Amino acid sequence: MNKPAIFFIFSILASLSHAIELDFCVGDPSLPRGPQGYACKNPATITTDDFVYTGFRGERTTTNIFRNNVTLAFANAFPALNGLGISMARLDFGIGGVIPLHSHRTSEVIIVNRGTIIAGFIDTSNTAYYKRLEVGDVMVFPQAMLHFQVNVGNTPATAFVSLNGANPGLQLTTPSLFAGNLPADIAEQITLLSHNEVMRLKRVFGTA
Ligand SMILES: *[C@@H]1O[C@H](CO)[C@@H](O)[C@H](O)[C@H]1NC(C)=O
Repeated sequence: MNKPAIFFIFSILASLSHAIELDFCVGDPSLPRGPQGYACKNPATITTDDFVYTGFRGERTTTNIFRNNVTLAFANAFPALNGLGISMARLDFGIGGVIPLHSHRTSEVIIVNRGTIIAGFIDTSNTAYYKRLEVGDVMVFPQAMLHFQVNVGNTPATAFVSLNGANPGLQLTTPSLFAGNLPADIAEQITLLSHNEVMRLKRVFGTA
């Protein structure tokens, strides 16, 4: 057998053996996380409550700059997701609120629960796919694509999303440029924004 074929068979065996070793591995976020996730919590201490996340209950205030409130049920907050390749988030929008342009390491499906939003993503050809979504509508944002949501209704809006990773990450484009340690002159060069606009945005995020 040639080398690629042998490697292929071993890869399959390795993934199968991994899949059948454990029913689940509730994470222990107090231990370091590796590329495969957290180490497992002691099975003797696991109860039903480990598999239940109650963090989506209740109302949200939307007072930040984007008039949103995002509740992430990723593996660090809901450790039963560890190793399962799935997670959720709740998105709340005040009137005029937005989830600004961002991406994850994963794909995402969204379902609107209250209000009316425009949701969309932009592909690597700079084509934008966006649509007005009403309650009950579902949209998918393919893996790693930049995407966004805008409340276009006259009421607050709420949506829930699910992502096919336990730790999908969340990278917000504008904060990544202006809320962190990127120097203003580099931000200007890599965006073509003016110095004044870069400084305005850095002040918005308290970094100038
Ligand atoms: C989200 O809403 C909760 C509940 O009202 C509030 O405690 C929290 O500070 C809000 N977070 C943000 C970022 O506004």
